[in-house]
Amino acid sequence: MSKTEENLKQAYAGECQASVRYLAFAEKADEEGLPGAARLFRAAARAEMVHALSHLRALGTVRETSENIEAAISGEALEFKEMYPAMIKDAVEENAIDARHSLEYAMSIEMIHHKLFSKALEEESANAAAPYYVCPVCGYTVREKAPKKCPYCGVDQNRFVEIR
Ligand code: FE2
Ligand code: FE2
Ligand code: FE2
Repeated sequence: MSKTEENLKQAYAGECQASVRYLAFAEKADEEGLPGAARLFRAAARAEMVHALSHLRALGTVRETSENIEAAISGEALEFKEMYPAMIKDAVEENAIDARHSLEYAMSIEMIHHKLFSKALEEESANAAAPYYVCPVCGYTVREKAPKKCPYCGVDQNRFVEIR
């Protein structure tokens, strides 16, 4: 790997992390009644995402959609079959309860993503015709209609995020 490729990968990881960290900081600022700070964090989060996307394109990671779907299928499978089970085992051994819940939610939902991506091409027209809904707590992802309550974490229908 060239020095530049290595640098881009490192910068990409840092920008992704900063973007999500700023979103979490924005939520916290809103809770504290500081909407100005919240807005600045959200603006910076969006900008860091722009940087991350740009680095990713420069790395050549974005291919044709059929290849990207294959990459998504194998990434999701790796996460729910290997990465998360091993991490959950560690969390159980270390009695890290919050970590365990967070990792278990993610593992369950990566399984759903794996299924969705596996059918993505055959279901292209159905996917194009209806929105998706995402649970803001566990990430449960579903097409057409949010359930009354999230089947994984129990969150109410009206808190689901619509993806058009
Ligand atoms: Fe940045
Ligand atoms: Fe996923
Ligand atoms: Fe949920």
